[in-house]
Amino acid sequence: MSSQEETALSQQLKSYISQNGPISTRAFMEACLYDPEHGYYRAGNPIGAEGDFITAPEISQMFGEMIGIWCLLTWQSMRQPIPLQIVELGPGRGTLMADLLRALQKLHPNFETISVHMVERSVSLKARQMAALEGFDCPKHWHDNLAEVPTSPTLIIANEFLDCLPVRQFVKKAEAWHERVVSLDDEGAFCFAVGKEVPKGMVVPARFDTAPPGSIFEFCPDFEAVMNDVQRLASKAPMAALFIDYGYEGPSLGETLQAVHKHNMVSPFVLPGQIDLTAHVDFTAIGALAVARGLRAYGPRDQGAFLSQLGIGTRAEALVQTATEQQADKLVSDVVRLVAPEQMGSLFKAMCLSSPGFTPPPPFDQIVEPQNGSGNDQQPKQ
Ligand SMILES: C[S@@+](CC[C@H](N)C(=O)[O-])C[C@H]1O[C@@H](n2cnc3c(N)ncnc32)[C@H](O)[C@@H]1O
Repeated sequence: MSSQEETALSQQLKSYISQNGPISTRAFMEACLYDPEHGYYRAGNPIGAEGDFITAPEISQMFGEMIGIWCLLTWQSMRQPIPLQIVELGPGRGTLMADLLRALQKLHPNFETISVHMVERSVSLKARQMAALEGFDCPKHWHDNLAEVPTSPTLIIANEFLDCLPVRQFVKKAEAWHERVVSLDDEGAFCFAVGKEVPKGMVVPARFDTAPPGSIFEFCPDFEAVMNDVQRLASKAPMAALFIDYGYEGPSLGETLQAVHKHNMVSPFVLPGQIDLTAHVDFTAIGALAVARGLRAYGPRDQGAFLSQLGIGTRAEALVQTATEQQADKLVSDVVRLVAPEQMGSLFKAMCLSSPGFTPPPPFDQIVEPQNGSGNDQQPKQ
């Protein structure tokens, strides 16, 4: 789909741009995702076969089960604090949390001391999550943002949450970097344009000053607020956070902003407010923000390695024992999809952040100090 069909939001944005001038890529993305009336995450169900995209927990229950095992092992590394709260950021349809809790119900010796905090902005997804967790007796709470979650020993999990946060984009002209903006062309259609020059070295690392004209650099300002909230939870009690997403070890050049509608890649200007907009996550930036706040950062590790080390292969073998031939084939193809490097295994990465004082379990037992500004400049993003 390439034409720009009008939506209520596109009309609103076009009218704003004609009166006030272009808006930043970030402001465009923010409006498309979170506009209080017409934003993508305000209503509807974006996830699953009938939606726009599918996520790892929706592919197989084994994904959530492995995260449940990670929760158990990490809680043990924390020296088994009681009570424990499990916080999920952007819980989608609640599938991951349901699979995780089912695993913990079997494995955790103090399951009755666990409470659940779901951080979700979408009203319709909140309702789905409540239905998905109906069968679990533990105390369950819903919040609009992480700042509302009380301090207590905490495990945070977030699958495909960071990629939703809007990014600023910068474009290199002959001499300098400029904000990339969304404007209107002669026909009144949305188009990218070049905005104000940004001071050298302020947002775009100085090492990219010699990048060729047309290069794009992305930066997510909202990571900072998320890391402040994570740090707050770690300030009074042990905390570990697991972020899984598609991403890269930055800083690096290249555009990763992408738009998905009904499982197809489309232009970000198609159907504003009705399509998913995301950007790949710079895990090095996340690690650096965490370390600057006194937290420890581990990884990122490829999702394939992460799930394999937690035992997804063994779990699949166990499930195959009681499966029909058709179910067994699906179990095998699901594991391959989640783990194989050419599928989700390498593109998706897992990063662990923790309060000091304990070491998270493998594959995060090797602390990785983010090396500020020493990534491979020329490495294209995946
Ligand atoms: C790509 S979906 C991932 C859903 C789920 N984690 C999964 O793996 O199936 C993104 C989720 O994050 C939620 N979300 C997006 N932006 C958010 C924000 N700023 N605060 C809280 N939740 C947000 C969405 O409503 C949705 O539940």
